[in-house]
Amino acid sequence: MTPIASTFVAGPDGVWRIEVVEPVTGASLPAAPRLSVLAGHVVQPASALWAVRGSTGHQRYTRRDEAAALRAVQAGLDRPAATWASLIPIQKSAAWWELAQDERRAIFEETSHHIGASLRFLPAIARRLYHGRELGEPFDFLTWFEYAPEHAAAFDELLAVLRASEEWLFVTREVHVRLARQ
Ligand code: HEM
Repeated sequence: MTPIASTFVAGPDGVWRIEVVEPVTGASLPAAPRLSVLAGHVVQPASALWAVRGSTGHQRYTRRDEAAALRAVQAGLDRPAATWASLIPIQKSAAWWELAQDERRAIFEETSHHIGASLRFLPAIARRLYHGRELGEPFDFLTWFEYAPEHAAAFDELLAVLRASEEWLFVTREVHVRLARQ
């Protein structure tokens, strides 16, 4: 997969209207009227209130059978009916990054069932995971989700499931930016 680099810019412009910026853990991000998703890693425009960057990358934890299960049900981005979206930037603790790969995988899936618990929310929720850590960004991850308004309650249910998991004990900063197209 060719990596996709994106910059999420909050300010006066953009196809997404920011409904609310909800601080979940740690410091929030400033409120802003709109969000645009720009291709590449760009410098924050003078008119912007904040900008965060990330790149997609290879799968770190997903096994082949899990990847196949995801591929069989997942939907792509930009569906006309998916007029709501969530940008959830996430930072994990030093303790997480000090773990070995196999220890992180065990917490991610064997204990927290991140994939197992999320699969039933597909294809209603479409997603893309960006990494920011290697870019020196303030957030290790930018998670992006698109869904139809009638699936918003299911998305909130998924958030509650994941936030109650052991994996989330390692989350030191999380902000939920709720968005609507137009
Ligand atoms: C919609 C259903 C979801 C599915 C199917 C899903 C699936 C996945 C998969 C397969 C990975 C591992 C990628 C890899 O192997 O590197 C992953 C990573 C991740 N997901 Fe989800 N996810 C979902 C929802 C969420 C939600 C709602 C959040 C945030 C609230 C989230 C946050 C993350 C984060 C932060 C990572 C990176 C973990 C790390 O590398 O330490 N995911 N997800």
